[in-house]
Amino acid sequence: MCGIVGYVGGKQARDVVIDGLRRLEYRGYDSAGVALVSDGEIAFDKRAGKLANLEKAMEGSPLPASTTGIGHTRWATHGAPNDLNAHPHLGAKGRVALVHNGIIENFATLRDELERAGHDLVSETDTEVAAHLVEAELDRGADLTAAMQAVCRRLEGAFTLVAVDGEDPARVVAARRNSPLVVGIGEGENFLGSDVAAFIEHTREALELGQDQVVTITRSDVSVTDFDGNPAEGRRYHVDWDLSAAEKDGFDWFMRKEIFEQPRAVADALLGRHDETGALQLDEVRISDEELRDIDKIVIVGCGTAHYAGLVAKYAVEHWTRIPCEVELAHEFRYRDPILTRNTLVVAISQSGETADTLMAIRHARAQRSKVLAICNTNGSTIPRESDAVIYTHAGPEIGVASTKGFLTQLVACYLLGLYLAQVRGTKFGDEIAAVVEELQRMPGHVQQMLDEAEKVYELARGYADTRSVLFLGRHAGYPVALEGALKLKELAYIHAEGFAAGELKHGPIALIEEGLPVFCVVPPRGRDQLHDKMASAIQEIRARGARTIVLAEEGDQEVAPYADDTIPLPVVPTLLQPLVAVVPLQLFACELATVLGHDVDQPRNLAKSVTVE
Ligand code: M6R
Repeated sequence: MCGIVGYVGGKQARDVVIDGLRRLEYRGYDSAGVALVSDGEIAFDKRAGKLANLEKAMEGSPLPASTTGIGHTRWATHGAPNDLNAHPHLGAKGRVALVHNGIIENFATLRDELERAGHDLVSETDTEVAAHLVEAELDRGADLTAAMQAVCRRLEGAFTLVAVDGEDPARVVAARRNSPLVVGIGEGENFLGSDVAAFIEHTREALELGQDQVVTITRSDVSVTDFDGNPAEGRRYHVDWDLSAAEKDGFDWFMRKEIFEQPRAVADALLGRHDETGALQLDEVRISDEELRDIDKIVIVGCGTAHYAGLVAKYAVEHWTRIPCEVELAHEFRYRDPILTRNTLVVAISQSGETADTLMAIRHARAQRSKVLAICNTNGSTIPRESDAVIYTHAGPEIGVASTKGFLTQLVACYLLGLYLAQVRGTKFGDEIAAVVEELQRMPGHVQQMLDEAEKVYELARGYADTRSVLFLGRHAGYPVALEGALKLKELAYIHAEGFAAGELKHGPIALIEEGLPVFCVVPPRGRDQLHDKMASAIQEIRARGARTIVLAEEGDQEVAPYADDTIPLPVVPTLLQPLVAVVPLQLFACELATVLGHDVDQPRNLAKSVTVE
């Protein structure tokens, strides 16, 4: 959720920290704050609202020069998003400033204890107790590193903490448990960030920290320990995203740019995953063929859009492998005592790799001895690190809060996994697998074809600015597309939207149909198991009751054309791969409608890019 930055080096810390926060603002934008160490004291400013509010305030009343600082952009958990609850929080004497991402679950007990000892806590946050506790340790003679270690030993929950000591300008100290933190290694300067976007402008050398570790950065040194002070090691890696990949490239929104990057992203997700005969080679799947052959059940977990990618995957994976496949929301899975064995493969889908619900789900699965495979976009994030195997989606940085290229590349990774399992287990012949791979290779071109028609979708969207409710219908692999179309509209345009399996209409939802209600209908390709004809009937039924139908169907589909108020043609592709193209106009529609309505498309209200609390 929240974004965190730390810096010590030779530059103006204020500028480095603000730049880092700007790149992390997608993680939360309820408030922002900066603390610097200057002349033996902490100088700070923090404001409710977006980072721009803080910057404006700092123009009028600049913070002093300093080369050591921390910053925070907040997605509120404890306490309203106001100035007082904004981070950084200070210790009792104002010697320590501290920022936090996560939830300190035992904060009420700790707060009681502090108040009984005479501490005056001024905010409603869980974070402030950590600032007071760290400062109390300094008062007892510890240095900042030892103080952080001692406090972390007492905290329960999920947290990344970053702190500075007003009397020690040479270091910034951070800690992590169940919450993300990366170190950026520079020359004569070092950085901390919730993710690499915080410092990518300055260095692409990074250090990934393990669970329950404390890191101390100075200008020239990075040292890692566990919470008991024992030396520990992080994993160094080179970041292959560059700064321009994280900029808008002339688009009005990151989301729109990311939608248009999808042909490239799909191509990258396929790159190097098969040989010239079409045989799959997934080197990152470090689970032996023997173990893969023993799998008797697959459970796919994820949240939001990632969950919908899993729903699509079920159709493909079961069809190709004949392994029973369940798909479940990660938060529901974790707390219902699911049946898992050594022969269950749990597939965790997460763009960020930091979603707390999904992380808890895989920890539970591993504790039951099940194998866990992550499908993830973020190198160095927690979910792949805690999994037995990973398929990276290679979508590049996804900054817009609404997932777009993340979704398409998750679908590609799921298809690759399904085909790989079919190859290892022999449930498909080599030439059958090669034929699907060939179809997949054509998908970047098909996605581009959808984007070439963007203007028509925008025009359509502009006509719906007064709409208060929209329905989405699909069947088979088109059903998750309907769900995803509805989610995009809810989160971006704040319009009530629901996705339904078209077959379910007559079991209730058809009662919602009234004169003029817009209904998107995702029509399966022609000629498969009567699915197409059944969908055509559903469209006629809703149109007869006054719905305004927006029909996504194969180009040249004359059977549904008479019942469409608007048509969005789709390229001719196999049913299982159709989601890759059908979802694109739904993304474009939501993006444009939200723009017309004047909403912040990249940072919709109440949301955060990475949901790192349960
Ligand atoms: O980073 P993850 O893929 O784990 O995130 C999962 C969901 O929070 C995410 O897909 C969310 O639903 C997006 N806002 C959808 O656009």
